[in-house]
Amino acid sequence: MGTKEGIESHSLLFVCLGNICRSPMAKAVFDYVQLQKGNPGISFFTTSAGTGAYHIGEEADPRTRQVCKSRGVPLLHTAKQIDLDMALSSDMILAMDRQNLNELERWGPQEIKSKLFLLGDFDPLYPHSEVPDPYYGSQKEFEQVFDQLFRCSEGLLNHFHLKAH
Ligand code: 4NP
Repeated sequence: MGTKEGIESHSLLFVCLGNICRSPMAKAVFDYVQLQKGNPGISFFTTSAGTGAYHIGEEADPRTRQVCKSRGVPLLHTAKQIDLDMALSSDMILAMDRQNLNELERWGPQEIKSKLFLLGDFDPLYPHSEVPDPYYGSQKEFEQVFDQLFRCSEGLLNHFHLKAH
């Protein structure tokens, strides 16, 4: 966390496997929710990455782009694999599922361990749930992921608002 002229700032890194379906959507949805419901005294830098290298340089999956477009959430994305700089410079690293979390725990240095969370920890409806991999699913799974990410984003934002009081 940083503070500048009374504004606290947080750097959030959303992580999935391929960085084309869930984590780009998570970043886009969080940015949207924060713009609509955020506290002007708290600013965020958000980004996303994958644990895998399979899709580096690609844009988001067409099904992620479709659901974001239909819900009015802007999305502009180029896939990246997580690296040490990204991990060390983030305040929170938010994994989509336990496999992502285990992978990050195995991969990362000790300093990042305390920053690791499951994004579903902040789901007000189903706390500690995983955001399931929709890659082999249909558009319907992407719609469900979107709804889940929306709830998690509201929960995560509330977490910062409560801490600020
Ligand atoms: P994501 O979905 O981790 O939500 O981006 C996936 C994307 C690609 C693959 C698996 C999951 N893949 O096996 O290529």
